[in-house]
Amino acid sequence: MSEKNQPTMEEIVSLCKRRGFVFPSSEIYGGLANAWDFGPYGSQLKKNIKDSWWRFFVERRDDMVGLDAAIIMNPRTWEASGHLSHFSDLKAECKKCNERIRVDQKLKDEDNAYFNDKVKNINDAIRNGEKTAIGSEDEIDGIRKEMQIKLNEYCACSKCGNKNWTVPEQFNLMFRIDYSLTGSENSIAYLRPETAQAMFVDFLNISNTARKKLPFGVAQIGKSFRNEITPGNFIFRTREFEQMEIEYFFDSKKSDWNIPFDGLRKDMEKWMDAVGIDMKKVHAVDIPDGERAHYSQRTIDFEFEYPFGQKELFGLAYRGDYDLSQHENLSGEELRIIDPETNEKIRPHVIEPSLGVERGLLSVLLSAFENQVLEDGSSRTVLHFKPEIAPVQIAVFPLMKNKEELVEKAKNIFEDLKQNFRCEFDDNGNVGKRYRRQDEIGTPFCVTVDFESLEDGAVTVRDRDTMVQERIKIADLQKYFGEKLK
Ligand code: GAP
Repeated sequence: MSEKNQPTMEEIVSLCKRRGFVFPSSEIYGGLANAWDFGPYGSQLKKNIKDSWWRFFVERRDDMVGLDAAIIMNPRTWEASGHLSHFSDLKAECKKCNERIRVDQKLKDEDNAYFNDKVKNINDAIRNGEKTAIGSEDEIDGIRKEMQIKLNEYCACSKCGNKNWTVPEQFNLMFRIDYSLTGSENSIAYLRPETAQAMFVDFLNISNTARKKLPFGVAQIGKSFRNEITPGNFIFRTREFEQMEIEYFFDSKKSDWNIPFDGLRKDMEKWMDAVGIDMKKVHAVDIPDGERAHYSQRTIDFEFEYPFGQKELFGLAYRGDYDLSQHENLSGEELRIIDPETNEKIRPHVIEPSLGVERGLLSVLLSAFENQVLEDGSSRTVLHFKPEIAPVQIAVFPLMKNKEELVEKAKNIFEDLKQNFRCEFDDNGNVGKRYRRQDEIGTPFCVTVDFESLEDGAVTVRDRDTMVQERIKIADLQKYFGEKLK
């Protein structure tokens, strides 16, 4: 067999479409740019990844509790969190074809001295909208124009090749929605750009009811929305995506923040490995001062080697007490917890592991994918999913479709196994083709009922990875798969 090779994005996208993992959203109407739907196997895979995360970080620990909060929150949330003023990128448009770019990324890609010296500071000053060392509104306007000149000098539009850009402007990434029935001006709300804020805003309700002592974490899985300027690379960057986030609260007077930070870092690494992400392709990158999000005192990005480059997979941040203190200030509510030993009211600090479900799924797919050339010269595509997350764990086949005794026995086995495992019954085409299809779906085991089965009460079990086949008694199948799959 050949060495495992890095798939291309075309191979992944094509497999996802062909096998019903992921396909373009609303395709019959021509689709919608950068919107994707997770089909029968994709939705199951996504659910399995989320379930695995929830089991790992919430259910098997006694210092974590869950939350499932509303997506549309009181808009003051975003005022306090800083998203209204800070959550923006510099955007410019090609004057010829209207292609939109993120200015910082584009200039960074060009890697010219201008970026290294200036863009970071300028971006910061414009983003903060404050009179910093860089100066007044007039000066900032001057800098925007200077940036436009640099863009026109260095950066050709990737769509039409022109070098003619609009003056860069700050573009807020939150989706605004009209939340009123009357259309009044005060009715603007936002689709949440991160799940995190509900865990801060609900802190009192959670700490009063969960009866946890510090340190403890709150976990949430849910949709987030960002009006990204440059979405793309399949499901890597989209405007609608899911996050799995934890806000881990601790007493900063009793514990050095490095302790929970390092602990959660190790847990994230363990979980990535457990879910089948190739850890040789994961790199921890410390984000330097000036490039971190506005709330973060330290951030590690776990980057993955995608076919389109090494890019962020997940993040781990030390948010201090930035969020709780901001919400205290704006709401007037004390977001604190009483230390039962000292009776002191504590505003905890926070470590935040933040994971994108789609990026996790893409990394799992890329890690599992293999195009194999077999010893007989034939080839197969196989997804080596971990059994825990494979959409289908066991496929059950009758050797032939038109032999009633085989079909009946296979159906009985399927009925029995599906009580405990994710199973699929398949009687289409020849068995060789069914194996190939299950390999592409990533099914760890196939069970075939043949004529011998009617005599000896045993079936052929074929292992996806080794392709070795062995005879197992039907009466022993539950135990056999219980050991292999649980
Ligand atoms: N609460 C912290 C936070 O939201 P982030 O680095 O902006 O931090 C966390 O996002 C994770 O969410 C990222 O590491 C990534 O996995 C995922 N993510 C962010 N934006 C995304 C997008 N536009 N499309 C897909 N996933 C995204």
